[in-house]
Amino acid sequence: TTKMVKICCIGAGYVGGPTMAVIALKCPSIEVAVVDISISRITAWNSDQLPIYEPGLEEVVKQCRGRNLFFSTNVEKHISEADIIFVSVNTPTKTRGLGAGKAADLTYWESAARMIADVSKSNKIVVEKSTVPVKTAEAIEKILSHNSKGISYQILSNPEFLAEGTAIQDLLNPDRVLIGGRETPGGQKAIKALKDVYAHWVPEDRIISTNLWSAELSKLAANAFLAQRISSVNAMSALCEATGADVSEVSHAIGKDSRIGPKFLNASVGFGGSCFQKDILNLIYICECNGLPEVANYWKQVIKVNDYQKNRFVNRVVASMFNTVSGKKIAILGFAFKKDTGDTRETPAIDVCKGLLGDKASLSIYDPQVTGDQIQREISMNKFDWDHPVHLQPMSPTSVKQVNVVWDPYEATRDAHGICILTEWDEFKTLDYQRIFNNMQKPAFVFDGRNIVNIEKLREIGFIVYSIGKPLDPWLKDMPAIA
Ligand code: NAI
Repeated sequence: TTKMVKICCIGAGYVGGPTMAVIALKCPSIEVAVVDISISRITAWNSDQLPIYEPGLEEVVKQCRGRNLFFSTNVEKHISEADIIFVSVNTPTKTRGLGAGKAADLTYWESAARMIADVSKSNKIVVEKSTVPVKTAEAIEKILSHNSKGISYQILSNPEFLAEGTAIQDLLNPDRVLIGGRETPGGQKAIKALKDVYAHWVPEDRIISTNLWSAELSKLAANAFLAQRISSVNAMSALCEATGADVSEVSHAIGKDSRIGPKFLNASVGFGGSCFQKDILNLIYICECNGLPEVANYWKQVIKVNDYQKNRFVNRVVASMFNTVSGKKIAILGFAFKKDTGDTRETPAIDVCKGLLGDKASLSIYDPQVTGDQIQREISMNKFDWDHPVHLQPMSPTSVKQVNVVWDPYEATRDAHGICILTEWDEFKTLDYQRIFNNMQKPAFVFDGRNIVNIEKLREIGFIVYSIGKPLDPWLKDMPAIA
């Protein structure tokens, strides 16, 4: 045990970067190299401007970088030197071919596995960190063993449960660490080696070991359950608006039941992020492939309700504003898929903005962590439609021109007819709404897609306010939205 353990992580993204930084922080005796084929990402990891925004990340990276944490594009060298290789590459939804619109695209994973097989000269533990379909470990094992040159590989599944925006806290203090492996002596030995890494800071009773398939499926199941909670409360929010119930009161009341629990029960404009939709689609595909259409349809509904919620929001905006937003300036506050991240993958803001642009609105967007370039790219990109994989919805160049990104919320809202709050950034709670109101067109509308504003206060100022799942402003009752 005098030899220093070496870890290599393939993929320096939202998962690979923070995860390895925390391992390096907590295990000074382990050398951690994070490698990526993207030169710009690695350059950013080695600079003062890290490629991702995550509270607390910079401090951890600064403490370890150059000591026992390295970011490099020399993929081959670090793979060949490592004892344990984490694979944390992206696994997006396939957009064409077999399973398009649902199945996970394992191209990046397969190329990482082939690279490992090519350059390895000693035995390796290969850890699936990416979220992958159940049974992927079997495929990886085949690729490695058919190209093995006498080297032995152990595959482990160690899915990551961190949430963006709280990644460092989640990694420092995880609810659990899950490690799946083969039930053979070799498999058990590999599990033990990975356990020893986490045991540097995670209490032993929080490190769970299972068989490979349970570990792989647990990640998909966890995301499906989490997203299902959001779609459930969002479905309730529509009924609240129709009946005069208040979704926050309902959430509070049901969350007191210890079997339900209080967390993750906020109604909103919908869930986003790179994982929930992708992982549920993946789950649906696996169910269909296993001849379980009823199970597939059950989970499909979670995504359908999410799409419904985004549409419903757009319809509310348009209907409230006399059924047209054509030529009207609408301020969008928040574009990231949640607060404390700059990540915009699958953010509900994309669909809301596209919906409003479809009605010819002119948008002025402000987000404290997202650049104009990134917003323009997201909005002009042809979004892949999971429900109708053959149809793409191209954005016309003229509607993209209707998007203006600014660095100040007061500028975004100046002369606007309405404001849509799409991310729950804390700073939106304390804006000077009187000042904003004074500079807007009248009637002035606030559509709060995250239920963060003080409705009463805003109504006193003179705003017409829509909050998801809350008793409707009399104005909105007179302008029914047909969703
Ligand atoms: P990401 O897209 O931010 O990072 C993936 C990185 O892998 C990219 O920088 C890419 O250049 C690199 N890469 C791809 N192929 C490569 C190769 N052959 N060799 C070297 N580098 C390669 O993705 P992210 O968000 O980090 O997700 C990674 C995986 O973790 C996905 O499977 C995702 O589902 C899963 N996951 C993501 C979470 C999140 O919050 N983002 C949370 C838990 C799991």
